[in-house]
Amino acid sequence: MPKRIDQLQADADADLKAVTSAEQLEAFRIKYLGSKGALKALMGLLKEVPKDQKREFGQRANALRQGLQESFEQRKQSLGGGAKPKAAGKPLLDVTEPGAPPRLGRQHIITQTVDELIEVFGRMGFDAVTGPEVEDEHHNFVALNIPQQHPARDPLDNFYLTDPDGENPLLMRSQTSTVQIRVMENTKPPIRIVSTGRVYRPDEHDATHYSMFHQIEGLYVDRNVSMVDLKTTLMQFAHAYWGPDADVKLVPSYFPFTEPSAELYVKIDLGKGEEWMEVGGCGMVDPAVFEAVGYDPEEWTGFAFGLGIERLAMRKYDIRDIRWLFENDVRFLRQF
Ligand code: DAH
Repeated sequence: MPKRIDQLQADADADLKAVTSAEQLEAFRIKYLGSKGALKALMGLLKEVPKDQKREFGQRANALRQGLQESFEQRKQSLGGGAKPKAAGKPLLDVTEPGAPPRLGRQHIITQTVDELIEVFGRMGFDAVTGPEVEDEHHNFVALNIPQQHPARDPLDNFYLTDPDGENPLLMRSQTSTVQIRVMENTKPPIRIVSTGRVYRPDEHDATHYSMFHQIEGLYVDRNVSMVDLKTTLMQFAHAYWGPDADVKLVPSYFPFTEPSAELYVKIDLGKGEEWMEVGGCGMVDPAVFEAVGYDPEEWTGFAFGLGIERLAMRKYDIRDIRWLFENDVRFLRQF
C-alpha cells in the first residue's frame, strides 16, 4: 500500500512538471484531485487496508492530497499571471529579463510643424515674433483696412468677448495679420518677421475647417519690394517645406490689406483623388495699412502672407482630416 502512495506522488509530480497551459492544468486536476480522481480512488482503498495500518495510510494519503492541492494552486497562479512556467520552487520574477521600456512623450505634430516653419523662414532671414490671441477691433480689422460693413467683421463670424457695438471691442483674433500691425506700430522698417499662433473663427467643422487653427503670418517691409520677391519667397518656401515635387500655384484674389492679392494653393489627396487646397493668402501691403501705422507709403513697400499651419501639415504628412489633429487620439498622434 505505501508503495502505491509513493507511486502516485511520483506520477503526479511528473505530470505537474509537464503542465504548460491552463488546459493541461485542468486535466491534471481532474486526474488527481477530481471527484473521480486518483486520490478519491486511493481513499477508497482504505477499507482494504489492515486495521493496524489504517491510521498511517490515512495520514499519508491526506498529506499527499494536501501537497498536490498546494502545488496545483501554485501552478495555477503562475499560469494565470501570464508568466512562463518555471521549474518548481524557482522565483517567478526573472530580474535579468529586459524591462518594458517606458513610452516617451512627444510634441504634438502642430508644435513640431510650428518649429519647422520658424526654422525654414529663419533660414530665409525672417525673425519670429508673437502677438496676443485676445485682440481689439483696431488691430484685427480697422488698421488692416477692413471696413465696418465687411462680412469678415460680422459678429456671427467672430468670437467677440465684449459688446461688438462698443468702442474698440475685444475678440479672439480671427487672423494673425494683427501681428503685422503690432510690429509696425513698434518698429521702424526694414522689417522681416514671421509670427505663428492660434486664430479663432466659428466655422463649421469639416475635413479642412476647424473653429480654432494656427496661422503663420509673414511681413517683409523695405524699399522697392515687389511681387517678384513675394512669389519667389513663397515658392521657395513651398518647395523647401514640401519638397521640389509639390504642385503649387498662386491665384489672384482679394484682401483689404493687400493690393494686389493672391492665394496659395497646393495639390493634395484628401481621399477623393487630387485636388487643389487653398493654404493661405498673400499680397503687397496696401498703402492704407502703412498709413494706419504711420509709415510713408511713398517710401516703403512690402509683402505679407498668412498661411494655415494645419493645412501645411496636412499636405506634408498626408493627413486627410483636420479634426484628427485635435481629437488627441494618441494612436494618431504617436505616428509623428
Ligand atoms: N489674414 C488672411 C486670412 O486669415 C490671410 C492673409 C491674406 C494674410 C493676405 C496676409 C495677406 O498677410 O497679405 O484669411
